[in-house]
Amino acid sequence: MSYFASTSPKMPAGYRLLKLDTVDSTNAEARRRAEMGEPGPLWIWSARQSKGRGRAGREWTSQVGNLFASLLIRPKCNLQTASQLALVAGIAAHDTVAKLIAYEGRSDLLLKWPNDVLLAEEKVAGMLLENVSGTKGSGSVVVIGTGINLANHPPNLPQPAISLAAYGLSVSPGEALQVLATTTHEWLMRWGEGATFPTIRRAWLDRAGPTGRKLHVRLNGEETEGTYAGLDSDGALRLKTADGEQRITAGDVFFR
Ligand code: BTN
Repeated sequence: MSYFASTSPKMPAGYRLLKLDTVDSTNAEARRRAEMGEPGPLWIWSARQSKGRGRAGREWTSQVGNLFASLLIRPKCNLQTASQLALVAGIAAHDTVAKLIAYEGRSDLLLKWPNDVLLAEEKVAGMLLENVSGTKGSGSVVVIGTGINLANHPPNLPQPAISLAAYGLSVSPGEALQVLATTTHEWLMRWGEGATFPTIRRAWLDRAGPTGRKLHVRLNGEETEGTYAGLDSDGALRLKTADGEQRITAGDVFFR
């Protein structure tokens, strides 16, 4: 049976939803609206994206049946604190997938830094967080874009992908969005605009599996090998290498 009786997603109090049939990218739409003064919080959800965007300028394959949604928020904190949202959003996406698959603490659902959600070692959800600069007012303007592979997943990627359908579950985009919106709101409240970041750091670590796992990091054409050594106090990835320890604040991370 479906997770919800209705496929029309209900938003948490105070959030609005813009539902689109097709758009270039829900992140791009959120940015455009932020630049025109949209106050948020606003969820933008589209059935289709013609130019879905992934991290590091990559394309995000956007086949109908998957979830493509972006949340536009205006936290009152500065940009450095707002960057903690990469981990907050990752936890929310992880917990969304956990709820959708009725996960009971098995070890096959993991967060990979900063916010990829892996199911049985394959990517089921990805996030693109963008800061919108030059808009009016103090504080930060952030777009949190989430893609969850529900019905389809692209083949032959450097980071192999999986969908919930391939995992044996049928979940509609509306069902997934309702859980994502509720779960994201809960984690945003726990984050408190940075006031309780140690809680977020702990929650992220609890979902990332044990330290000592071999990692491969790719940034600007440079490749680094090491082992996972947890998170620094600010959320940077700690990578133990042959020469000591490195702080990773950007780049693509792969399990080895
Ligand atoms: C990644 O893992 O590379 C990030 C993927 C982010 C994809 C989502 S789909 C909804 C939102 N709109 C976009 O264009 N990208 C994000």
